[in-house]
This record gives sequence, C-alpha cells and structure tokens, in this order.
Amino acid sequence: MRTFLKLVVCAVMAVQSATARSGSFPKYNRLNMNDTAILLIDHQVGLQALVKDFDTVSFQNNVLALASIAKELKLPVVITASVPEGPNGPLMPEILKMFPDVAVVSRHGEVNAWDDPKFRAAVKKTGRNQLIMAGIVTDVCIVFPALSAIEEGYQVFAAVDASGTFNEVVRYAAWDRMSQSGVQLMNWFSILCELTRDWRIHGQVMTDIILKHLPEYKNTMITFNQKQSTEHSD
Ligand SMILES: *[C@@H]1O[C@H](CO)[C@@H](O)[C@H](O)[C@H]1NC(C)=O
Repeated sequence: MRTFLKLVVCAVMAVQSATARSGSFPKYNRLNMNDTAILLIDHQVGLQALVKDFDTVSFQNNVLALASIAKELKLPVVITASVPEGPNGPLMPEILKMFPDVAVVSRHGEVNAWDDPKFRAAVKKTGRNQLIMAGIVTDVCIVFPALSAIEEGYQVFAAVDASGTFNEVVRYAAWDRMSQSGVQLMNWFSILCELTRDWRIHGQVMTDIILKHLPEYKNTMITFNQKQSTEHSD
C-alpha cells in the first residue's frame, strides 16, 4: 500500500514538473506601441479622496506620466468617467486639458466601464488589442473592465501606480485577482520603457517624460550633463 502511494506521489510530481517544463507559463508578451491603447478610467477628483495607497502628489504624477506616454507616443486613448455630475466629480482637469480631442465617455450607471456599449465601441474603434488600463479605484474600476476585456480576448496590462484604492489589503487582493486572470501588472516607467524599447530611436520622448515625472533620475541626468560639459570645456 505504501509503495503504491509512493508511486502515485511520484507520478503526480513527474506530471507537475513536465507541465512546468513544457511551458505552462505564459510566454513573454511584450507591449508593442503599434498594438497598444491606453484607457483612463474614472480619474475623477471626488474619487481621488479614496486613494490611500499613494500620497496625492505621487499619485497625480503617476497618472499624468501615463497620460504623457499616450500623448507623446501618439497612442489612442479612451477616457471614461462614472456619473461625473454626481459626487465622484469631474475628471482631473489636467487630463481633460491634455486630450482636448478625445470625447469622454460619461457613464450614467454602469460600474464596470465594459458594461457601457459606448465604452466598448470606443475601445474597439482604436483597433488595438493591447489595453493598458488605469483608474480609481483599482479593485472596482480597473479589475472589472480588465477581467471583462480578458474574457473578450484582449491582452490587458494594469498600470498599477496610476491606479489607487483604499489600502494595501484591498490593493493586493485586486492585483492578485487580476494577475490570476492573466492581466499583467506594470508601472508607468516599465510601460514607457517596454513601449519605446530603444533609446536611440525614442530617446527624446523618454527623456522628456523622465525629466517631467521622475525627479530622481532627472537629478542623475543633470549631474551627468554637467560633468560632460565641464569635461568638454577642459
Ligand atoms: C510599428 O510600425 C512601424 C511602421 O510600420 C514600424 O516601423 C515599427 O517597427 C513598428 N514597431 C514595432 C515595435 O513593431
């Protein structure tokens, strides 16, 4: 009996390791700027009060960095707001100013943006199959449309630092739920670098966005440039 059990255990382990070897892990599915659209969901001023997993200044900076990536790389953008005439309030004015030509999809009840046919139509119209989503709150406004879009065959990437929620428990539950369903979790800087891929081709865009939104690296750049210019003037 004991031998039999051992055999069963060995067989199970063999199957498990064969599955791991045969690539049960997803392949590297990288962002391609020709396939990507950015979806900004419910970045409304009233909802920002619910974001407690980032401080307000960093959060706004992250959201605007992601928006700048869309703008500088000329990616299609879909913007939506949940009942903007109610307590959630209007969208962040900086976002509206950056995309004067994008018609905001105002929802008048649908919690999951994907439930709004106008939103789905706007996404479809981009013609893109890689969707980067960000918004408030992560566990509702991102998780729900992310799972819906996955179900319809889109590749979904959640911009986790441009999405915020109540606390870390809620955030990790939301991230776990998404990643279990195949949503890739990324931050704006990795999104920028994976989309652009090569400093020689997109160095200017990368530098512009970094100078505006990543002060830590901006300082490194300034020091380096100063050193370069002193060396050259010697
Ligand atoms: C995107 O499309 C352009 C124009 O067709 C092409 O030159 C470029 O290599 C494509 N980029 C990627 C990452 O595939």
